[in-house]
Amino acid sequence: MTEHVQNLINGQWVEASGDKLDSRDPANGELLATFRQATNSDVDAAIAAAKAAFPAWKATPQPKRAEIIVRSAEILLKRKEEIAQLMSRENGKPIAEARGDVQEAIDMAFYIAAEGRRGWGHTIPAEMPNKRMYTIRQPLGVCSLITPWNFPIAIPSWKSYPALVMGNTIVFKPAEDTTLLGKRWAEVLLEAGVPAGVFNMVVGHGAPIGDKLVTHPDVRMISFTGSTRTGLGIATKAAPLNKRVSLEMGGKNPVIVWEDGDLELAVNAVMWAGYGTSGQRCTACSRVIVHEKVHDQFLKMLVERAPKLKVGHGSEPDSFFGAIINESQLKKIDEYVQIGVKEGAKLECGGKILKDGAYAKGNFYAATVFSNVKPGMRIEQEEIFGPVISVIKVKSYNEAISVANGVQYGLSAGFISNDVNLCHKASIDLDCGLCYINAGSTGAEVSTPFGGWKNTGNGHREGGPTVIDAFSELKTVVIDYSGKVQKAQIDNN
Ligand code: UN1
Repeated sequence: MTEHVQNLINGQWVEASGDKLDSRDPANGELLATFRQATNSDVDAAIAAAKAAFPAWKATPQPKRAEIIVRSAEILLKRKEEIAQLMSRENGKPIAEARGDVQEAIDMAFYIAAEGRRGWGHTIPAEMPNKRMYTIRQPLGVCSLITPWNFPIAIPSWKSYPALVMGNTIVFKPAEDTTLLGKRWAEVLLEAGVPAGVFNMVVGHGAPIGDKLVTHPDVRMISFTGSTRTGLGIATKAAPLNKRVSLEMGGKNPVIVWEDGDLELAVNAVMWAGYGTSGQRCTACSRVIVHEKVHDQFLKMLVERAPKLKVGHGSEPDSFFGAIINESQLKKIDEYVQIGVKEGAKLECGGKILKDGAYAKGNFYAATVFSNVKPGMRIEQEEIFGPVISVIKVKSYNEAISVANGVQYGLSAGFISNDVNLCHKASIDLDCGLCYINAGSTGAEVSTPFGGWKNTGNGHREGGPTVIDAFSELKTVVIDYSGKVQKAQIDNN
C-alpha cells in the first residue's frame, strides 16, 4: 500500500508545499510513498517551531529527556521487524542488515539514555583559596540534521538522540530516497513522547532547502552525513556565520592483507566490507592492498567467490547484497568501472549492470573485482559507493601504508596479519578515524567515536562519548566565595 508523507512541524503533520515526489523500491520500482518537496517557507516554519520549543526542552532535566529516549528504544524493539521489512524495500538492503540498522538505533538509544544520567563535567582545582571551578554542558539550540539513505534509521538515531538528550531541538531532513523511513523515525520519537516542536521533519531533496537549513539565523548547529562535496559546501556556507558543523563524509577505505595473514579470514572480511550494503557505506572497503607473496592466491580466492554471492531483493533472506539505491547511483558505478578499464586495470569479474529476469525492473550491479590497480588511478582515489573492489599489489610495509594513506579520505582501514608487532605499528601508521585489526573496514559499534580524518570529517565524532561534545556547549563555572576580588595569576605570585 502506498503511503503519503508530510512534514512534521510543531507536532502536526502538514503537507509540504513544493513539487510532487515519490519513493520506490529500488529492486523492482514498486511505489512505496508519495510526498511533496519541502520549500523554504516550510523550513522556516519548522525552525520557528524548534526555536519556540527550545526553552522548555532545555529546562527539562537531562534524565527526564533520557527517559523519553528509553521509551523510543522500547517502541523500536516492538517495531523492529516491521521497520526492517520496510527498509529492505525502500532502501534495498538485505533483511538481516536492515534489522541491524534498526538494532543500531536501539543500541544508540540505550547508550545515549545512559548519558542522560552522566554527561559529567570536570571539577577543577583553583589556584586561589575559597574559589571553586567546574564545567557543565548545555544545549546549543536548534540543530539541522541532514541524513543519507544508506542507514535510514541508524544515522538519524546517531544524531537525534544525542541532540535530544543534551536539550537541543531538531529540524530533521531524511534523504529523499528513504522518506518513508524518515516518517517511521519521526513516528517513533513522537510516540515516545518527544514534545511538539522539539523534533520537526522536512522532506524532499536537499538542494532547494539546504541553504535555509544551514544559514538560517536561528540554526546553531548542522550535522551532516553524506558526500564530501556537499559537506564541504555546507561548511563553506556555515563558516562566515560561525555555526557549528559536524561532518561525516566520503571514504576510500583500504584493507591491507599481509603476507602472514589468514587468507580465508581476509577474503571473507573483504567481501563483507566491500559488498555488504552493495558497497554503499562510507566505511565500505574499496581497496585491498595485498602483499606480493600472497597476492595471486588472495586474488584467485576473491575472484572465485565474489561472482557466487547472491544479489537479490532485500527481503530474500539469502541475498548477500541488494539493489543500488537509484538509477543515477547505478550509472555512476558503471561509469567508474568503464574508467577503471580505460585506466588499464584488469576487470576480473562483474563490471556490469544486471538486467535479466528478476533484475529487470531494479537497479542491480554485479560484484566487481579489479586487479592490476595502480595508486593514483581514479578508481583507486575516488569514492564509487558500489560493489567494486580494487586489488593493489605491494612489496613492502612502507609501500602498503603509503598506498593506504595516499587518498584524500581517512575514515576506516583494516589490517590482516598475525604479526602482533606489525598490527600495533599499522594501528598507529594508518591515517583513519577507525582502524580494524584482523577485520574489514565496516561495523562500528555505537559506543565508539565514529568519524574520519582528512576530507572525511572536520574533527567531530558522532557515536561514543565524543558525540556529546558535538551536540553541546561547554561552560566553565567559577565561584569565588572569598568575599574579595581575587586577581588570578597576580595575587598568589
Ligand atoms: C556509514 O556508512 O555512513 O561502521 C555508516 C559501519 C556502520 C555505519 C556506517 N555501523 O559500517
